[in-house]
Amino acid sequence: ASYDMGGHDTYMHKEIHEQAEAVDRVLRGRIDDRFSTVHLGGLNLDARDARAVRRVKILGCGTSYHAGQIGAQMIEELARIPADAEPASEFRYRNAVVDPDTLYIAVSQSGETYDVLAAVQELKRKGARVLGIVNVVGSAIAREADGGMYVHAGPEVCVVSTKCFTNTCVAFALLALHLGRTRDLSVRDGKRIIEGLRKLPAQIAEMLEQEEDVKKLAAQYADARSMLFIGRVRGYPVAREASLKLKEVSYIHAEAYPASELKHGPLALIEPALPTVAIVPDDDLLEKNRAAMEEIKARSGQILAVAHREQEKADHTIVVPKNEDELDPILMGIPLQLLAYHTALALGRDIDKPRNLAKSVTVE
Ligand code: G6P
Repeated sequence: ASYDMGGHDTYMHKEIHEQAEAVDRVLRGRIDDRFSTVHLGGLNLDARDARAVRRVKILGCGTSYHAGQIGAQMIEELARIPADAEPASEFRYRNAVVDPDTLYIAVSQSGETYDVLAAVQELKRKGARVLGIVNVVGSAIAREADGGMYVHAGPEVCVVSTKCFTNTCVAFALLALHLGRTRDLSVRDGKRIIEGLRKLPAQIAEMLEQEEDVKKLAAQYADARSMLFIGRVRGYPVAREASLKLKEVSYIHAEAYPASELKHGPLALIEPALPTVAIVPDDDLLEKNRAAMEEIKARSGQILAVAHREQEKADHTIVVPKNEDELDPILMGIPLQLLAYHTALALGRDIDKPRNLAKSVTVE
């Protein structure tokens, strides 16, 4: 594809900067203020079907799998339906129990990833109901699914996904709100989430204005051989995606860990040469995250915090605008895309086409 780069030197940079506009598109025409819910006609799921769902299982690969992990948490929090995400290929090959009361959701930017498509086909063979959350209209997974949502991020050219990840997370927030409002989510909470969603585009734009600061930080960390990413609950999938992004574009080894598991292993690795990126939202786990940073500092580890206010335990903090707790992961991912981008740029990597990777993997 050769879309105009619009003055950016890479598609990744362009696509990172398109996110405020992209999020506006995934929201457009879907919010129903009268009933504090959303209209998602393409789901083909009426209120009775929605209420009958006992579990949600989300399948995807790579970045889409991580968006699915964030989505699973949103569905559990807002709709109180047990939900989890799994790599599509693992699911396919473990002869999983296919349950008629589970709603299956396949996530794919391209809609063509073979492992995801094959999982959808296997599920359908076993009589399951499968929705697709897809970017490319009319793609194989979109056609195969019983219904779903398009994320409307626009064409994504860079091999590593940025704006589609963000839009997929927003699509999940809409789905979680929709499922929640057919169950026990109150009008008041529905309103609260809608207000939070509406704030996202401006907050993304505000976040992107800090690019120069993130660029300076990236220069400081670019000589690291390895980096650790930590977070808890809502912050953990953010850490996983940030770690993947850094690996993909900069080729720096990175590992994500739940902050709560540090003492069960990774603390052994902490030394000045292994920097940690800590995802520290201002939520009920803030004190726990501070304690984890203290553990790292006590072992002379360097810390870059991504937080809603300056963190004194950290060497550097990137301050992200605060939204509703449930929506925080969406914004916290954005400076970490910039961090991966500027690290790769400082190292002279082939940002839009990292070695050994393909935009969509349409074979096994
Ligand atoms: C490839 C790409 C990843 C992407 C994954 C899933 O591995 O390199 O960036 O996350 O496929 O792609 P999909 O189109 O299904 O979201």
